[in-house]
Amino acid sequence: MAFPPSFIDELVARNPIEDVVGQYVNLKRSGGNMFGLCPFHGEKTASFSVAPDKGIYYCFGCHKGGGAINFMMEIEGLSYPDAVRALAKRAGMAVPEDEQYQSRYRAQERLWALMKEAGRFFHQQLYSPVGAECLAYVNKRGLSKSIVTHFGIGFAPNSWNALVDAMRKKGYTDQELKDADLVGEKNGRIYDRFRNRLMFPIIDVRGNVIGFGGRVLDDSTPKYLNTSETMIFNKRKNLFGLNFAKKSKLGYLILVEGNIDVVALHQYGFDCAVASLGTSLTEEHAALLSRYTEKVVLTYDSDEAGQRAAQRAIPMLEKAGIQVKVLQMKDAKDPDEFLKKFGADRFKLLLEDSANRVEYQLNAILKKYNITEDDQRIAFIHEAAELISTLGSAVQREVYGNRVAEAGKITPEAMKLEIGKAYKRRIAREKKRQEKIDLEPVKALQPKSRTIRYDNMKSAMAEEGIIALAMREPALLDSAKGLTDENFSVPLLGRVYGQMLARHHQALEVSLAVLEDLNPEEMSHIAGICQRQQGPVNEEAFRDCVRIVMGAAQKKNVESDDDLLALRNKLKESKGTK
Ligand code: GTP
Ligand code: MN
Repeated sequence: MAFPPSFIDELVARNPIEDVVGQYVNLKRSGGNMFGLCPFHGEKTASFSVAPDKGIYYCFGCHKGGGAINFMMEIEGLSYPDAVRALAKRAGMAVPEDEQYQSRYRAQERLWALMKEAGRFFHQQLYSPVGAECLAYVNKRGLSKSIVTHFGIGFAPNSWNALVDAMRKKGYTDQELKDADLVGEKNGRIYDRFRNRLMFPIIDVRGNVIGFGGRVLDDSTPKYLNTSETMIFNKRKNLFGLNFAKKSKLGYLILVEGNIDVVALHQYGFDCAVASLGTSLTEEHAALLSRYTEKVVLTYDSDEAGQRAAQRAIPMLEKAGIQVKVLQMKDAKDPDEFLKKFGADRFKLLLEDSANRVEYQLNAILKKYNITEDDQRIAFIHEAAELISTLGSAVQREVYGNRVAEAGKITPEAMKLEIGKAYKRRIAREKKRQEKIDLEPVKALQPKSRTIRYDNMKSAMAEEGIIALAMREPALLDSAKGLTDENFSVPLLGRVYGQMLARHHQALEVSLAVLEDLNPEEMSHIAGICQRQQGPVNEEAFRDCVRIVMGAAQKKNVESDDDLLALRNKLKESKGTK
């Protein structure tokens, strides 16, 4: 990026990783590393590590990692240049501003402004003559005028160019409209992407309009059209309604499926409702929620799909340290319908009644069986025992075990035995799975992230070794004569190597924190490689790695698992213990 390398070097040097991270995470030293609770995925045991000597952080749980700049980007949701500015401010350094930075920042600001302007346009259309049908629909759905205003709900006219024309008039370019994903393009001409739809602006926690969800006004499909990924919008990291819900005084958040449900809940006084944006809940969502609350009431649709989604969301939320309750509705498919049929007071009763997730899951199991028949009663007890055996607390196991024993008409002692057996079975299963992984090194060594693939595993392992070792001792790069980034089988690792080499030749700092043009996933991947490298630097292992990479590049040789294991062992030697 556009900051001078020497400036970045000084910035990184003046912002020790442990200090930067230490502002957000309580770190405890353990050997050369420091550990704390990961701020990105929420957890109860510390798997988040900081290596002051390497200038990096890495979470062994969620595999996020990087240097100080990256950390600021992740934790504060900043762009690269803004993270640099924040760190410069922290260290009392002046930032050399330049053209490119200015323009990138301006582009982002323009998109925010454009989205806000588009939202305003849609909202106005709702009350114009073309919006009559949509307004009738809004009324039919029982949305009050004030809640429509509060959420900025609007109408995208049934036209190919209404928005395009209005935004061009405001001075926005076609490129900007494309970048915001507000338009489609055909034969070089752009046209309105949202047509004849009820429009929900999606607003981030800082109050920027970052996207839209557009619902049809009838039963046609697709029911929703949503903004796809843009420079300012990522659906995996944002939740509809959180901009309001984060200010709620209710002390918990209600997680629902639909936009309409969120709006209806807010209208009826439950101003703590949020929904994911047309995707199932992600780990990022769970981490985001955990920043604002410790309690979430899952209120998914009562149909089978909704209940399945709830079962998937439970472990994700619990992993983020959130207490989960599950609210179940009868005689209504979703909260919106329930509120309209039965009113806020009845919903409040449901909220108070909502079961904690274990009760909910036990009930779900109970429903599957007809326990008046012996074989089904036994199957029920088995499955319930499986669930209870996963509970960490002995008290919980006892309480729920007794409850199941009663329902299944067996003694508490017999139930306890059953839970014990289920526990052993699970441990055995996990052990077997682990053994299988150990026996399939090639598969197990594939990167965790979905976008980075290793095709030549042996070369890739050696490439990892080169980067991890040279990151610790850049002088090793001098002994990699003739090795170029083109020899690497993994393009990402080649790119990183190229940057390291260039910096080393210019006598600049070589460290993870100064790497450029890596997306968060790539940065995390490299941080993981570096963090796993422990112990003294082993020159011989480095030269072996170089030989392997160059050999693989020349011959494109077919690898064997034996060679691979030998290399792994060699690299392990250089890792020392742990
Ligand atoms: P109602 O049917 O009026 O209750 O609307 P709703 O907003 O409650 O939507 P629904 O419960 O059917 O769906 C839940 C959420 O899933 C919606 O709010 C959307 O975010 C998303 N969704 C639904 N249908 C689609 C679709 O066709 N495409 C995409 N991308 N997302 C959808
Ligand atoms: Mn719904």
